[in-house]
Amino acid sequence: MKLLCLCATVCLFNQAVAFQSINGVKLQSATPPYNKPSPTCRTRPSRLGWKMVYTPEREAVKQAKLTKSIKTPDPIPEEGIRLATELMKTGRLYRYNSDSADTCMVSRCEKALAEYTGHKYCVALNSCGSAIFMSLKCVGAQPGDKVLSNAFTFTAVPSAIVHAGCEPVYVECTENYLMDPEHLAKMADETGAKYCMISHMRGKVADMDKIEQVCKDRGIVLLEDCAHSLGVYWRGEHTGHKGVMSCFSSQSYKMLNSGEGGFLLTDDDELAAKMILYAGAYEKLYHKHSLRPADEIFEEIKHEIPNYSMRMHGVTAAMIYPQISTLDERIEKYNRRYLDIVEPRLNAVRNIKVPKQLKEVSPVYDSVQFNVHGMSEEQLQKFIQAAGANGVPIEVFGAKSNARYFRNWRYTADSIPQFDHLPKTEEVIKWACDVRLPLMFQDEDFHTICDVIEDAMDKAMA
Ligand SMILES: Cc1ncc(COP(=O)(O)O)c(C=O)c1O
Repeated sequence: MKLLCLCATVCLFNQAVAFQSINGVKLQSATPPYNKPSPTCRTRPSRLGWKMVYTPEREAVKQAKLTKSIKTPDPIPEEGIRLATELMKTGRLYRYNSDSADTCMVSRCEKALAEYTGHKYCVALNSCGSAIFMSLKCVGAQPGDKVLSNAFTFTAVPSAIVHAGCEPVYVECTENYLMDPEHLAKMADETGAKYCMISHMRGKVADMDKIEQVCKDRGIVLLEDCAHSLGVYWRGEHTGHKGVMSCFSSQSYKMLNSGEGGFLLTDDDELAAKMILYAGAYEKLYHKHSLRPADEIFEEIKHEIPNYSMRMHGVTAAMIYPQISTLDERIEKYNRRYLDIVEPRLNAVRNIKVPKQLKEVSPVYDSVQFNVHGMSEEQLQKFIQAAGANGVPIEVFGAKSNARYFRNWRYTADSIPQFDHLPKTEEVIKWACDVRLPLMFQDEDFHTICDVIEDAMDKAMA
């Protein structure tokens, strides 16, 4: 009893100190103001600074519950709604039904995005999956060609490789979810693959210097899936510049939201002409693209390139256009919440570790991924169930039904024997959890998310 009283007094004292240092500034202090917690009483960062936690029998606290949907997407800005409505009123919805490139909404959108990422050319498409497919066509991949890609990514990536008639060759990931350059080299040497589609899954960027070197040494054409890396930089350069072409998405849960949509970008003149033609520019319609190479390039190849009719719809572009200029301010908002609240609070929860990005990366934290450790599969299930029951659906990448688990990509030719040769990825994604961090949520909501996760972990480990 005496020990308990002493413990509670120490904790209250600690909390008071934490409050003092926190008042009026940030919610999180760098280190808890105590030396060594006793085994029965310790503190954790919480919405109020540092909160007392009794273990193993925690003091009964009100159960945290998130009532907002974590699937809440960003709304279309008023300006996007206005531009879309204006366009619909004119009826000029067909992709080339504008007087010039300058007045074409899709073309304006392409220009704005290329300016943002620093690319010379951009074509807007109906999805990022189409961009991945088309990039392989542009670089000349033939049916049956092998394409190196991440074993840890979303099913849309190998699907697009298969769409192009090619065969994915999966590369292992590290515990930070990044493509492993050594395994890339091994798989390249074993298979002789001449293409690599690296996917910056959840905006996590692998060691691009090493990836680039592996590809250069072997004459492999590098392409980038930047569906999750808009606004993410490697050594101060926007992602998508190590590959000869890069693919972006504006599907609802990305940094640009148009429901569906994608972009293909490049600095190469010939690839630019090809992507414009594949997207659906026939006769002399390439003139209606603001970002385009010289006419001679088009005239030389235009009858060799089929028209896949994959260009973005005008109304889609109208919704996206005003979102591009607000990217940086939104990224700042996402990152502040992540660094001030989500990351430190989750790292303070037992059995949870939030992996860091490589130091060369300027990230965008529109979601959080963390690894759980020291628990059984049954405890993991309990943890997921408890969090879900209180409004925080946590996805485990390696869950049986998850579309990011490579064993669910059975459509990839020859893939089944590969599945048994990806032990590192399998072990990492089995314990890797994923939670969206919607822009529209307030700081308070992120604290609730962390409270729910912390409580769920306590329940699972009880
Ligand atoms: C990593 C990754 N790459 C590519 C895509 C394809 O994007 P889209 O839905 O625009 O085709 C997705 C889709 O979510 C994705 O998660």
